[in-house]
Amino acid sequence: MTTPDLFAADTKPAEFARLTELRRVLHEHAHRYYVLDAPVIPDAEYDRLFQELQAIEVKHPQWMTPDSPTQRVGGKVLDGLSPVRHAVPMLSIETETDTTAQGAQDFDARVRKALGLQEFDLPVEYAAELKFDGLAINLRYEHGVLVQAATRGDGETGEDVTQNVRTIGQIPLRLNGCDAPVLEVRGEIYMRRDDFEALNEKQREKGDKTFINPRNTAAGAIRQLDPNLVAQRQLSFFAYGLGEVRGWSLPSTHAQMLDALQAMGLPVCAERSVAHGAAGLTAFHEAIRAKRDALPFDIDGVVYKVNALALQQQLGFKTREPRWAVAHKYPAQEMLTRLNDIEIQVGRTGKLTPVAKLEPVFVGGTTVSNATLHNLFEMRKKNVRVGDRVIVRRAGDVIPEVVGRFDPVAVGEDAVMAGNELVVSPAKARDPYVRNFRMPKKCPVCNSDVVREKGEANHRCTGGLFCSAQRKQAMLHFAQRRAVDVDGLGDKLVDQLVDGGVVKTVPDLYRLGLTALASLERMADKSAQNIVDALEKSKQTTLPRFIFGLGIRHVGEATAKALARHFGKLDAIMDASQEQLLQVSDVGPIVAQSIHTFFQQTHNREVVEQLRACGLRWEEGDPSPAAQLPLVGKTFVLTGTLPTLSREQAKEMLEAAGAKVAGSVSKKTDYLVAGEEAGSKLAKAGELGVAVIDEAGLQALLGSAAG
Ligand code: IVH
Repeated sequence: MTTPDLFAADTKPAEFARLTELRRVLHEHAHRYYVLDAPVIPDAEYDRLFQELQAIEVKHPQWMTPDSPTQRVGGKVLDGLSPVRHAVPMLSIETETDTTAQGAQDFDARVRKALGLQEFDLPVEYAAELKFDGLAINLRYEHGVLVQAATRGDGETGEDVTQNVRTIGQIPLRLNGCDAPVLEVRGEIYMRRDDFEALNEKQREKGDKTFINPRNTAAGAIRQLDPNLVAQRQLSFFAYGLGEVRGWSLPSTHAQMLDALQAMGLPVCAERSVAHGAAGLTAFHEAIRAKRDALPFDIDGVVYKVNALALQQQLGFKTREPRWAVAHKYPAQEMLTRLNDIEIQVGRTGKLTPVAKLEPVFVGGTTVSNATLHNLFEMRKKNVRVGDRVIVRRAGDVIPEVVGRFDPVAVGEDAVMAGNELVVSPAKARDPYVRNFRMPKKCPVCNSDVVREKGEANHRCTGGLFCSAQRKQAMLHFAQRRAVDVDGLGDKLVDQLVDGGVVKTVPDLYRLGLTALASLERMADKSAQNIVDALEKSKQTTLPRFIFGLGIRHVGEATAKALARHFGKLDAIMDASQEQLLQVSDVGPIVAQSIHTFFQQTHNREVVEQLRACGLRWEEGDPSPAAQLPLVGKTFVLTGTLPTLSREQAKEMLEAAGAKVAGSVSKKTDYLVAGEEAGSKLAKAGELGVAVIDEAGLQALLGSAAG
């Protein structure tokens, strides 16, 4: 007979070894995934290992440690953030606002003077890096384990945001090869522009208010009291310095220190270099300026730091700022200007977009006079009207947008208190007779009816391919570089072709002869030949590019790739049922329906056939094996107490079938599995119209999925 004790004694070492091994492996994969962006195992495999670890920890709570990968998932809601006194104050940095080379020269001159260097002495060596536009954070590692994360606050005292920071996948919970009693790492938490755009797109779809910029969104998220909410924002991190250090011998330069932090598993931005003298700094400033728009995140400048730590010490500090560092700015990405007028633009899917006609303003490095206002509801929420002063944002290659109204009252400008009343100076107050903007009832291009579907934020022209604006946009979408890539087919040429009745549909483009093109006004023979060549070249394409180019609503590049990978062949996608489409990772009910409806339309199938007949071709493959998991692409949320299954078990079963299990209900949720005493999540599901099932329903789903 085996007593429970004997049993435990028997298996503990093996299980414990497994636990240690799982933690090691998961740390490594998390690093590859979040930091190196080079995962070597599929997400599902990571999830499986993660659950195995979770299961062991649930069984043996005494083996739990704060650096376990399972500790990243949110925790309980806090009452408030507690203050943290910084062991070493978090200083600010002097800013060089002169965005020309002079900024670098002035800093270098100050450093040389303070070091007592003569003209004939060698150039000073600097570490040059980016000035990330996020929020500063202090990560305290003790014996290699993350024990605390604190915001900068006033520099002396910040706030404890450890729970929230734990949810950021890029931040290691344990350092590689560093057992120092204390190592405080300082850096910036920020949000990538694509993550920010995706978040705002979701907000727009829901008709919720959008966020102003990635920086505010990241800063707001990190001070949230509910770590589960933070986990839903995609935050990122870069290390750039140190706080308190005990028991770790510092390298001799800042650049080496960054390399060491990177080797410990911390993300350090690759855009960094060692520069010599003012000339080296200027070259860095210029090189990064040229790249600024192509970076995946916002920066507002670069930072120069004297590289040798010994020299940093020698230079020391002014009151709040070190003498050895400076931030050298670029032109701002957000500016104030006047909204002169609002026009309507008709897009590829018929969407009517209000476009702001602005008093031209220099923002993000170019002069902007048009910016999107997205839709009527967002405009209303932002409360912008013609004549207002508005904030325009242009960052990266994202279309410039009006992010809000500049409210002189809210910022205390132009407003005075008269007794108890706030009086806005009449010159700056909004003219009370400015009419609120309304959407037109008819399409300004083709005069078809404009409609807004229930629950939709956008107004649409119902003209379809009758509307020349939609046809033009469809062609431009198809021809763009990221799609089928017809070099030289820009909006001017498309306007000419469509307005002149030369082409009606995308396949018509491929039937254009050299003579037809060359006979267009302002078209040189050479340019006509270039277009013909470009069209010919574009025929050899790839399946994802072709699918993306079709312009199916809700099908972006990522979805197009997922579809191609999953089905392998175009015909399989065209004939897929909604259920089959739902099996593709990241395809939810709305997207599945959109794809299905698209290929149900005879005219769309005809376009595809005609394009094939015109000679468009791509390689096709076999469907991916992930297609075999029955619940791939479905997102579940569990709530309340289920009659027989524990939540963990239910989660495991669902994930084994390929489903995703999320922590909170959103529009993306496919099913809420509700047990006894289900609370706010059930209400939320009701609000959003998410399907609610009980345990029996879940079992049925799993059963039928397995069959
Ligand atoms: S070093 C003693 N390096 O800029 C120098 N700061 O006022 C401490 N920042 O909010 C800062 N990128 O979060 C440093 N590469 C970088 C930075 C950087 C952004 C932020 C920092 C702080 C402000 C400094």
